[in-house]
Formats: sequence, C-alpha cells, structure tokens
Amino acid sequence: MKTKFVDSDVLIIGGGMAGCGAAYEARYWGRNLKIVIAEKGQIERSGAVAMGLSAINCYMGMRWNENTPEDFVKYVRNDLMGLIREDLVFDIARHVDSTVHLFEEWGLPIVYDEQTKRYKREGRWQILIHGESYKPIVAEAATKAATEVYNRVMITHLLADAEDNNKIAGAAGIGVRDGAFYVFRAKAVIVAAGGATHVFRPRSVGEGAGRTWYSPWSTGSAYALLIAAGAEMTQMENKLVVTRFKDGYGPVGAWFLALKATASNAYGEDYELKYREEQRALYGNYVDAKPFPTCLRNDAMLREIKAGRSPIFIHTEKVLDTREKEELGHEDFLDMTMSQTIVWASQNIDPKKRPSELQPSEPYIMGSHATCSGAWASGPTDLSSGEYVWGYNRMTTVRGLFGAGDTIGGSAHKFSSGSFTEGRLAGKAAVAYIVEGATDKKPLIAPGKVESVRDEIFAPMETYKLGRNMITRGTVSPFYLYPDQGVVRLEKIMDEYVGGWGSYYTTNEVLLNRGLELLGMLNEDLAHLGAENLHQLQRAWELRHRVLTAEAVLRHTLYRKETRWPGYCYRSDFPGVDDKNWHVFVNSRRDPKTGDWSLFTRPYVQLVGVEGT
Ligand code: FAD
Ligand code: ADX
Repeated sequence: MKTKFVDSDVLIIGGGMAGCGAAYEARYWGRNLKIVIAEKGQIERSGAVAMGLSAINCYMGMRWNENTPEDFVKYVRNDLMGLIREDLVFDIARHVDSTVHLFEEWGLPIVYDEQTKRYKREGRWQILIHGESYKPIVAEAATKAATEVYNRVMITHLLADAEDNNKIAGAAGIGVRDGAFYVFRAKAVIVAAGGATHVFRPRSVGEGAGRTWYSPWSTGSAYALLIAAGAEMTQMENKLVVTRFKDGYGPVGAWFLALKATASNAYGEDYELKYREEQRALYGNYVDAKPFPTCLRNDAMLREIKAGRSPIFIHTEKVLDTREKEELGHEDFLDMTMSQTIVWASQNIDPKKRPSELQPSEPYIMGSHATCSGAWASGPTDLSSGEYVWGYNRMTTVRGLFGAGDTIGGSAHKFSSGSFTEGRLAGKAAVAYIVEGATDKKPLIAPGKVESVRDEIFAPMETYKLGRNMITRGTVSPFYLYPDQGVVRLEKIMDEYVGGWGSYYTTNEVLLNRGLELLGMLNEDLAHLGAENLHQLQRAWELRHRVLTAEAVLRHTLYRKETRWPGYCYRSDFPGVDDKNWHVFVNSRRDPKTGDWSLFTRPYVQLVGVEGT
C-alpha cells in the first residue's frame, strides 16, 4: 500500500462538534498555520450529530440574564453527585453562548419565543432548534477554516516524539477508501474523536443490533488513542445510562422538559419520588438536588422495574393536545432520531392516542452528556490551580496533545454546543503552544517507527489472506477472529461482568476480577483479527479501541469502592455513596512501554459556592 505523509502545525483527529470548533478557533488565532482535520467518516455528516439534533442542550442566555456560569456549575455538580472539575465546566459555561450565536449566524434555525423575542427554551439550559442540518452547517465553517480535511481516514495510533516519549509528534491511520497508510506529523494534536458505544451489549438484537442511542461509529478512539499514548485518564468508571423510548432509542428531553410529559409505571402510578427515603439512606443528601440527578432518576426507574411494575410509560397521549405540540413532538424525532418515528409507524403507536414505553439504555462512555469520562486535562490558568493545571488549557498530560468534547473528562453536560466550545478552547491553546514556542523543533518520529506501525495496522489483512486458505466450510476459520465476532464477545463480557443492562448495571469485585481475566484473553486473541477488506480493517481497529477503552472502564470500576452514580452502575459490595473516602477523582495511567496500569486519586476542588467567592 501507499504511504502518504502529511505535515501540519495542528492536527485535529475527528471532525465532529469538538473537532469543528477546534478548527474554527485555531484558524482565528493561527492565521498562517497549517491546520489539518483527519475524519473517519465524511465531515458533513459525521459524528453524533450526523442525523441532526432538535435542541442545543447547553446555553446560558447571559445576554438576557437568564443564567450565570456559576448557576451552571452548581447544576452540573448536583447532577454528577458532587464530582466535577468546576474549572473546566465554568470555562465552557462562560464561552458557550458565543458559540451558539455563531451557529445562528451561520444559518442554524433557532426557535424564538414570539412573546419574549428570546430563544425558545426547552428547559432551563436547553433551547429548541430546527436542527436536521446542524452538522452540515457547522462542518462548513470548519472546512473553510481548515487547510485540509482528510475524510475517510481513521486514526489508529498517536506517534510520540523520537526524543521525548511524553510529547506528541503526530498520528497514523488508514485511508478507508483509498487504502493508503497515512502518517500525519504535527506540532500539536487535538483529539476530538467522540465517545464509545458497543462496549456494552446493546438492547437491540439481530438485524437491529447496530442501533444504539449514541452513534455506533463512536468507537472509543478518543480514549484508546490517549491511553495507548500514556495520557492520564479520569472518571472512566462514570458510564452513561440514558432513559430512552424503547427500541428506537428516542431521547426524552423535549418530552419531559418542553412538552411536560409524565412517566408512570405499568399501572399509571408516578414512581419517581417514591424511593426518596431508601435513596437518601444510601446516597445521602444528593437526593435533594433540584433537578433530581439524572442517575437517581434512572435508579428510581430501575427499582420500579425490579419490583415487577414495568413497563414504564411516557404519557405522550396526555400532552399532544394542540397542533403546535404535536408538531414539536414529531419534529423532535424527525430532526434527530428518525428510528423512533419508524418504530411508532411499524408498531402501530400513535403518540396522540397511546403512551410509549421507556427503557434505560446500555452503558456508553462519554465526556459530553450527563457523565464525564475522558482525559485528565490542564485547566484555564485564571481558574485552575494545584493539580488542575500544568500547561496549556485542555492539554492532556502528554505534551502538545490536547482534547475536546467527549475526549475530555471531569466536565459533563457540554452536549453539542459545549463540545464545540471546548474545541475552540483547545484550538486556541494549541495555537498558543505552537506560537509561544513551547515546541521549538519539528516533530520527529523515531527511525523504523513508521514501518512498524504500518505493519501493525495492516496485519489483520495479512492474517485473513493466510487464514482463509484453511476454511473448509462456510466462513469460519480456526485461524482468525472477525471484528464482529470480537465485538460481540466484548459486549458479553462487559454486560455480564462490568454492569451492563443484562445484570441490572450491577457488579462487584469478584465479577470485575473475572471480567478482567476474560478481557485479557480477548486481548490475546486480537492478535489474530482477520480483515477481508478495508472496511473490515477499520472494524478491526475500532474493536481494538473499544477493548482498550473497556479495560480502562473495568479497572476504574474496580478501583472506586462505592456506588457514586446509582442508576449508571452499582457496586453491590459497596452499595452507597461514600463521601468520606471517595469524593475524589479516580485517575489512571497505562505505561505505553510496559502496558502496566496505575490507578490513583486526584482531589475534588470546589470553586463555586465557597464562602467569599
Ligand atoms: P462527535 O460529534 O461524535 O465527533 C466525533 C468525530 O470523531 C466523528 O466525526 C467521528 O467520525 C470522528 N472519529 C471517531 N473516531 C475517529 C478516528 N479514529 N479517526 C478519525 N476520526 C474519528 N446535544 C445537544 O446539544 N442537543 C441535543 O438535542 C442532543 N441530542 C442528541 C441526540 C442523539 C441521538 C445523539 C447521538 C447525541 C445528542 N447530543 C445532543 C449530544 C451531542 O451530539 C454530543 O455531545 C456531541 O456531538 C459530542 O461532540 P464530539 O465532538 O465529542 O463527538
Ligand atoms: S439528548 O442529548 O439525546 O437530547 P436527553 O433527551 O436525555 O438527551 O436530554 C436532553 C436534555 O434534557 C439534557 O440536558 C438532559 O439533562 C435534560 N433532561 C432530560 N430529561 C430530564 C428530566 N426528566 N428532568 C430534567 N432534565 C432532563
């Protein structure tokens, strides 16, 4: 295969919301720099926003004095059971409105309230949009800002500097359409490669198995690339379980917040507040937070399901009483999750006439929704101190390696607008890192490294070529493992041992240790992955990224000896919140040379609401 070298100043991996923000802002500050985006899909419709969205879930409304960044920090802190990086959350909150105004300027139709002449609110933090074309609009700005966009290039490896193993020099990957081996050399790299799905077994089966709520092409690259490079990670145990319309995974926000729908058990009873005292006994005063934390809402629902009072219904039939509301309800899914509309049509559900079932999803790994897994990042110097700052904003513990969106841990509730905003912050910081001379030399990759990475990347195609000769019948060869076989095996291990939906999100030390053993065996077998074509080669690397992400999730879950986020994951051997010992971040680092993991804690620092601030 051909090797293509691309030199740049700033390389952005992933052209989703955060990657687009990074390109836009890096161009603003680095007029003469070469800014390159490597995107696994096609930037116009790639990432979690590919299908479009119906709301922007992070908007302060500061020009109308609706909220302050301090209010937002308090909200996110409560929702995450007291554990967030307040410096990072505040930093996004103070800049996010300007991002939303840019989107509007670029042509995104935002819904206005005719009476107040302000953006129409879905909830306190959310505004409504006509967002089917959200991604093409944002991608157009990024494409104009970037010097070059490489579509259909999946990054599989980060490349360290030859003289300093803890400094970035570039990345390598597969041209999924042209079959080329790509080597990007860069002074600064921003990883914005989204979250992770299909790490845990999905609810959907058979022909529907590709369907998940979060995008199936979010394959954990953001975490695996960083882990393999030796970056410190945080909150990988903070898995996200979202309540969704059953089978289509339709989001609930517009229904609960804008349409004010209610949920009930099978017998029409409201169950959400029913378990307050049991919850308080285990989880303390977090149960008094307003709004009720996302994970505790899940917890109440799970208690009701376990008590045999499912299905849980969302009463759409009680709220679609005007033409305007009916349109809002349908547009919500048509703009964002068409599959839900199709489920309604195919299962004879008229939302005006009968309720829909709700179900908690399989766990996802994300840094941008109501959880905050990801890299441990340096914060803004005007807000951060101590263990929260060691360099440029949003830089990981590897020099010159930045992150944004789902990639960065510790700050939840970014959503689309906050991810783009964090991309802007990382883009600006990466330019400062370059122009201020923090990296004074050209990126240098060790002799022989390019060749060894190339051989490693394309090995599954070689394995397939040899192994297929051994096939005596059908497609199963004793000499290789297909990527889809590997993914099913991974999902089963994670579901049964690390708290997937199949085990009611519950695990314990014995299960986790056995899961780690099984994951180790899967890891050994990954050396025998076979790829029939370039598409399968991409699948093979997506699986590798998922498995490394999964290992981090498992190790973090094992390390945190409490149940910090009930409804997302339960440690049955430590069933309550333990603020005395665990009101801290669990962090990890995998040594890139030996593969050994170390786990440790970092302090939580309160910035907002401290007396005198
Ligand atoms: P993404 O936008 O997913 O971008 C990641 C990019 O990286 C993708 O383009 C992907 O192709 C690329 N990539 C991945 N791996 C690689 C690799 N190895 N090499 C190169 N490229 C790679 N937010 C809201 O604000 N409002 C909503 O109403 C809302 N609803 C949602 C509904 C659904 C169905 C979904 C799925 C998400 C929703 N969100 C919503 C959340 C929002 O989409 C995410 O928070 C946001 O997109 C995260 O941004 P990101 O850049 O980190 O990831
Ligand atoms: S989305 O990203 O797919 O749109 P979702 O529909 O769960 O996610 O949530 C959208 C927004 O509404 C998020 O900001 C979420 O925190 C909020 N939200 C959803 N349901 C509720 C609820 N019952 N109470 C308060 N906030 C909610």
